[in-house]
Amino acid sequence: LPTPKISPSMLSSDFANLASEAKFMEDCGADWLHMDIMDGHFVPNLTIGEPVIKALRKHTKAFLDCHLMVTNPADYVMPFAKAGASSFTFHAEVTKDSWPELIKSIKSSGMQAGVAIKPGTPIEDIFPLVEGEDSVDMVLVMTVEPGFGGQSFMPDMMPKVKELRRRYPNLDIQVDGGLAPSTIDQAAAAGANVIVAGSAVFGAKDPAGVIKILRNSIER
Ligand code: DX5
Ligand code: ZN
Repeated sequence: LPTPKISPSMLSSDFANLASEAKFMEDCGADWLHMDIMDGHFVPNLTIGEPVIKALRKHTKAFLDCHLMVTNPADYVMPFAKAGASSFTFHAEVTKDSWPELIKSIKSSGMQAGVAIKPGTPIEDIFPLVEGEDSVDMVLVMTVEPGFGGQSFMPDMMPKVKELRRRYPNLDIQVDGGLAPSTIDQAAAAGANVIVAGSAVFGAKDPAGVIKILRNSIER
């Protein structure tokens, strides 16, 4: 399996203290910081954009794993690269006409490229993005409907993860939504290696302990 990465979702942090929350997560053993960008259009919620990434970047060297739940991701590639985003994960559902150009622009701007699929989107749709010449570095299999933190993990997404892992042994496969000590073993068994967790980490008495549990499950 590729290296495990635990990526706490900063959506569950205190946005008024983002820099110290980021530092806290790094001290707790986080590998990446997951940044949920929502435009109020692709999903019925509005969060943060490039100015906040830029502001946070001044306070941390951490890998900023940016998940763009937006209708027009192409508009944000350059702004996010300039702001200091480390990766740029767009949703497959809204970008079918522009996949090759989008991936090319993300990578040439120095970020890693990821593609995300909602629960209703089959993985077959994105095989070409993993196999093509300008291919993505990561696939994000959503395990809740995107839009909000704190929802329940959808175990019926695990066959997607399993099939992706069977086909692509070295691919970074990320799961996002409802990951917690009670659900991590299912994701680990299916072959996920990049774990997003928001409420389970920030809501815990011992966030470092939760991060350790998540990591141990993947490493086993
Ligand atoms: C949902 C976001 C997730 C979310 C995860 O739209 O993409 O990153 O914040 O939160 P939890 O772990 O609480 O489900
Ligand atoms: Zn996310």
